[in-house]
Amino acid sequence: MGRRVNMDSLGLFVLLIPTFSHWTAASSADEISWSYSGIAGQSEWSEYFPDCGGSSQSPVDVITTQTKYDTSLVPVTPLGYSQHGNQPFSMHNNGHTVIVELPEWMGLGGLPWFFTAVQLHLHWGNGGPGRGGSEHTINGRSSDAELHVVHYNAELYPNMSAAMTQRDGLAVLGILIETGEETNPGFNNILNYMSRIRHADQRAFIPAFDVQSLLPQDLGRYYRYNGSLTTPPCYQSVIWTVFHERVQISKAQLLKMEMMLYSSKIQEVDRMLLQDNFRITQPLNHRVIFASFSAESGRELSSGEVTAIVIGVMCGCVGVAVIIRFIVKTIRTKETEKSQEKNTDLVLTITSKAERNERKEELSPSPQTEP
Ligand SMILES: *[C@@H]1O[C@H](CO)[C@@H](O)[C@H](O)[C@H]1NC(C)=O
Ligand SMILES: *[C@@H]1O[C@H](CO)[C@@H](O)[C@H](O)[C@H]1NC(C)=O
Repeated sequence: MGRRVNMDSLGLFVLLIPTFSHWTAASSADEISWSYSGIAGQSEWSEYFPDCGGSSQSPVDVITTQTKYDTSLVPVTPLGYSQHGNQPFSMHNNGHTVIVELPEWMGLGGLPWFFTAVQLHLHWGNGGPGRGGSEHTINGRSSDAELHVVHYNAELYPNMSAAMTQRDGLAVLGILIETGEETNPGFNNILNYMSRIRHADQRAFIPAFDVQSLLPQDLGRYYRYNGSLTTPPCYQSVIWTVFHERVQISKAQLLKMEMMLYSSKIQEVDRMLLQDNFRITQPLNHRVIFASFSAESGRELSSGEVTAIVIGVMCGCVGVAVIIRFIVKTIRTKETEKSQEKNTDLVLTITSKAERNERKEELSPSPQTEP
């Protein structure tokens, strides 16, 4: 699939790189044109943005059996997400994704510091049959898309630009999106207005909405690790929270997301659809991914555990059988003793004989019913 980068920027780039490569990448990151594939594609990012070649990059593949259960990880708490007010939200197409700016009273609790909300944006695939679209993957499996809600550490830093370069500067919520039958009304608050920002650099104001309606129900089960921005300049400043529960949107909603926007500007002759705007997973490099929940219940059992369970169950059954046998024996012994007592009584013996004769008659099979 063809990918085009802004040739003017790239030309400037090529001229500057031999002499000022570090300076260029560090000081004019915003002006440098990058893309997800092609000449300035993700495999080249680290040439212009050194942090993209760092050892704590995002996204990552979460291998659930290698996560570490951490009991200190409490549920994250969105603050003010539902108090959206009357002021419209600003939404724009930056050529890489759709960004909705969030009011500063929205924030995030449940982390060691208070974080203030900045913006949310999405990553998606290309409308084709192939899987893919999410940035994070779970056990190697992609989701159809991914929502990121970005916050900065308001306790340690005065604003987003100061925080984004610092360790512990940002907290991003990662929400994996998959398709199902039902329309997700929360996502229509964004999707219904995307036609107003089809071209890069276009901006629109959209009605304020309940941002929490975009999140999964279960905010208590998530994966936590230290990582980076998933786009240049890839600063390694993000405390990541990737939720275990995925949210669902309809196939039509996903298709709208995938087919609506252009990465090209309105004045550009060649329109380029904005698709496959996800970065491939990055090496963990000795990092640990913590889980707020015990993966036990969802985990497949090892053969050793299966053996242990089988032996346990068998021992249990044998034990119960022995106990039942003991009880039955005890009862029988008592009955035998009783009947022996009874046998000493002549009258009862005669009665029981009579009964036995009656029962013999009852039990003798009638010839008519024989086959
Ligand atoms: C962010 O804070 C820094 C440090 O106080 C300041 O120099 C900078 O101007 C601020 N930037 C914005 C965009 O407010
Ligand atoms: C992230 O890095 C900080 C500082 O090195 C460390 O204290 C913290 O435990 C790390 N968190 C995770 C989830 O790895």
